[in-house]
Amino acid sequence: MNIHPEFHRFLQRQDKENLLGQRGIVVWLCGLSGSGKSTIANAAERILHQQGRFTTILDGDNLRTGLNANLSFSDVDRLENIRRITEVAKVFVSQGIITFVSAITPRGEHRDLARGLLGEDLFEVYVKASYEECEKRDVKGLYAKAARNEIAHFTGKDGSFEPPAQPDLTIDTEIISIEDAAFELLEAIRLKIVTTRPF
Ligand code: ADX
Repeated sequence: MNIHPEFHRFLQRQDKENLLGQRGIVVWLCGLSGSGKSTIANAAERILHQQGRFTTILDGDNLRTGLNANLSFSDVDRLENIRRITEVAKVFVSQGIITFVSAITPRGEHRDLARGLLGEDLFEVYVKASYEECEKRDVKGLYAKAARNEIAHFTGKDGSFEPPAQPDLTIDTEIISIEDAAFELLEAIRLKIVTTRPF
């Protein structure tokens, strides 16, 4: 092994968190395409930003145009997609950044992998909406394409989606507005991002 990782010499997470006056966390939103993950992340991030918090969003669709552009939607590639997103999230959270991940993360195996790498830093949110509801919304027109069998491994159709067994929070976007969802989410993480330092 010719690799010699060095972490101790570098500035520590605590140094970054002291500078930012906040604690880092990874808020991981999973759920079907069109369930509202990115919209909730966007709304919650904007509120935090206004409050002077330092945040970022790692979005599955966006990352698939760059870092993950060489990955398909096969089981193997989705696992690699999640592994890479998790590793990037790990870098961000280690800088004290409030990091939202919005990615379908369809299987328990994927969420276990994220949990294994992020541990207590992971706050898992299930953005719940039925296939039928997402198909009705069909913001990107993908459900119509899937119905015409034009998308392989489409999540919820021929690609499986296993609802998380024990998420830290479930947000049912069939019964709650985006605004209320964002507030509920922020309330749930409020105590996790504050430091003792006055902000
Ligand atoms: S994940 O399953 O690997 O977590 P990810 O969140 O990165 O998925 O990407 C999902 C996005 O890719 C969807 O929101 C949709 O816009 C697009 N997409 C393209 N093909 C598929 C597919 N077969 N299944 C699901 N989403 C797809």
